Amino acid sequence: MPSRGRLINVANRLPVNRVETAQGGRWVESPGGLVTALAPIIRKTGGAWVGWTGTTADKRFNPFVHEGIGIRPVAISESELDGYYNRFSNRTLWPLYHDAIRAPEFERKTWRPYVEVNQRFAKAAASVAQKGDLVWVHDYHLQLVPAMLRRLRPDVRIGFFLHIPFPPEELFQWLPWRRQILEGLLGADVVGFQTYAGAQNFSRLARDYTTADGTDTQLAYEGRIITVGSFPISIDTRWFEAAASSERAEKLSRDIRQRLGNDRKILLCVDRLDYTKGIDARLKAYELLLQCGKTSADRSVLVQIAVPSRERVFEYGDMRKDIEQLVGRINGEYSEPGRVAVHYFRRNFPREDLAAYYRAADVMVVTPLRDGMNLVAKEYVATRTDNTGVLILSEFAGAARELRRSLLVNPRDIEGMAEAMHEAIRMPAQEARHRMAMLRMQVRRHDVYEWADTFLEAMRR
Ligand code: ADP
Ligand code: F6P
Repeated sequence: MPSRGRLINVANRLPVNRVETAQGGRWVESPGGLVTALAPIIRKTGGAWVGWTGTTADKRFNPFVHEGIGIRPVAISESELDGYYNRFSNRTLWPLYHDAIRAPEFERKTWRPYVEVNQRFAKAAASVAQKGDLVWVHDYHLQLVPAMLRRLRPDVRIGFFLHIPFPPEELFQWLPWRRQILEGLLGADVVGFQTYAGAQNFSRLARDYTTADGTDTQLAYEGRIITVGSFPISIDTRWFEAAASSERAEKLSRDIRQRLGNDRKILLCVDRLDYTKGIDARLKAYELLLQCGKTSADRSVLVQIAVPSRERVFEYGDMRKDIEQLVGRINGEYSEPGRVAVHYFRRNFPREDLAAYYRAADVMVVTPLRDGMNLVAKEYVATRTDNTGVLILSEFAGAARELRRSLLVNPRDIEGMAEAMHEAIRMPAQEARHRMAMLRMQVRRHDVYEWADTFLEAMRR
């Protein structure tokens, strides 16, 4: 908890979303780990949250207070949103920072809206910040904000945290605006990443492409000292434990098991519909398992819950078609009467229901090709209060650094993933319990509150 200065949080999305209705519209909470962890600190310090409203209506919204949190909306027009969010953030930076799993787009006309929207966020933050405040900027959408804000308000402490991976030089150097991005980030007093590798990549690039000098964890730049480090984000562990232990979750999870077949092993996958999540490769791995007879629709079922995401970005629609075709192919080939091989739900679930699904699952399959952290893996572990269940986890998720006792897999090795699924299904109860107990210890010790405290502590130093 900060002992001085208010916390001003700056993120692409506000903790509330504007929903326009015939009656005129209202603000709806968008709960998530970040909001849960930071809202109490913002509330306690009398701080604020600067972010986009989630709509592109021409209407401008005045600052207001929502449940004790000052909300400073940033308006973004339809065409700006296309350049800043759909294109530069999600067609250039997102694929580039995720190992270029899809070819990034490099178009000069999308850089300008990125700069302009970042400038608007910086101005909005400058207008609400007071001397001595801690201004915490989040994620790849806003990498220019730290330097822009420093020029406007040299009297505040600035932190930046990147929620996604930070790529190695071989990839980052593709970016025509690489120096500008690095200089933008160097405006912060603390630059944080999910993993130590991300911090190292950044420090090395800052030394190579800017006037910064120093080590992997400390850089001297323009007369200031900048702390660079890894701050692995986590979840509200106690909330997931409680949600999964509730009477409602118990009933729902029993119902899910019964409907899917109590005698079947349930393999669960929960992702945003994103090409970084490796959904297609894991479906192919499960198909292989069915093909070689190591399991059957009678003995096990794979449940894929996928939440629609970034649907206006071309690559996402394309991937959705591929996945839906694959699900159809597997079911056509391997389902049996009353026993569907793969259940596919493309929708949002309330968090309480997700907790019940986690509780119902024998095996959780989390196999992104690259992921900053992956909170789903931690959420599953948190819900396994009786130490049952097996987690299969990609080596390329940030979470793999911490969740060492999961079954670690290379998501590009389909046969290897099929073997891991087979091993998970057959794992002796005692071994599963031992592994899960170790995993649970990790997520209980390191929750999202500890993450926020550690970052804010570094900002105050
Ligand atoms: P990312 O940040 O890339 O979306 P994470 O795994 O870190 O990936 O976080 C995803 C978050 O979204 C988790 O908190 C998870 O519970 C939530 N989530 C994923 N799928 C759904 C869904 N279908 N319905 C509701 N929430 C979901
Ligand atoms: O993990 C990166 C991230 O941008 C999160 O911050 C966000 O919650 C998630 O992806 C969903 O992305 P979007 O805000 O584009 O819907």
